[in-house]
Amino acid sequence: MSLIELEHITFAYGPEEPPVLRDFSMTVEAGECLVLRGDNGAGKTTLFRVLNGLSFPQEGVYRFDGAEVTPALLKKQRQAKLFHMRVGYLFQNPDVMLFNASVREEIAFGPRQMGLPEEDITARTADCMALFGLEPLADKAPYHLSGGQKKQVALAAVLALNPEVLILDEPLAGLDRRTRERLIALLLELRQAGKTLLIATHDDALCQALEARIVRLENSGE
Ligand SMILES: Nc1ncnc2c1ncn2[C@@H]1O[C@H](COP(=O)(O)OP(=O)(O)OP(=O)(O)O)[C@@H](O)[C@H]1O
Ligand SMILES: [Mg+2]
Repeated sequence: MSLIELEHITFAYGPEEPPVLRDFSMTVEAGECLVLRGDNGAGKTTLFRVLNGLSFPQEGVYRFDGAEVTPALLKKQRQAKLFHMRVGYLFQNPDVMLFNASVREEIAFGPRQMGLPEEDITARTADCMALFGLEPLADKAPYHLSGGQKKQVALAAVLALNPEVLILDEPLAGLDRRTRERLIALLLELRQAGKTLLIATHDDALCQALEARIVRLENSGE
């Protein structure tokens, strides 16, 4: 059994819409690093929404660690919480992820939801802010940050949950060179630490640095 199994997935955004994913199958092993490539509109973000249980395919089966991921499964609060603790998702647009009053609270939010003791929350928040040198922004409202800063805060908030699977949609987009290099090094460390990484990117250097398996999506060409 693979950690992630997609079997003959077909997904369309509406009954009148052409499918974005058509009879798509893929497996990912625990500890694997996979990069998703494909032109704008090819369906990378859509596939990530399915993998995160935000969209459900009309046909086919998605299994995570042996359990079929369905609306019924994710309606069960305990199952949903467990699933979202194991799978971390960085949205392509970090704006949709940021809703706390300060950067510090944003990063502490996940560990707090997990019910960690207060000192662990503080320690994890500090560690994850340090990954990107976010300390000077700790008391700022995420809403007022720059695009690249928002991306770093959103990523720090995902990492604060320490999920075993990281699904990152264009993590390097909009980052300056220094931050980009820092993030590539961090992703390599996470890979070496045994995390399962699924990354959508147009960045060749990242694919090479991670020695990733590449999966290419084609526009369904309606
Ligand atoms: N919420 C939505 N409702 C209807 N159609 C959508 C929605 N989101 C995406 N689509 C359509 O689905 C297709 C795939 O979009 P998707 O965002 O998955 O592509 P992508 O590969 O992530 O592209 P990019 O490289 O630009 O991020 C596109 O044709 C898009 O117009
Ligand atoms: Mg996308």
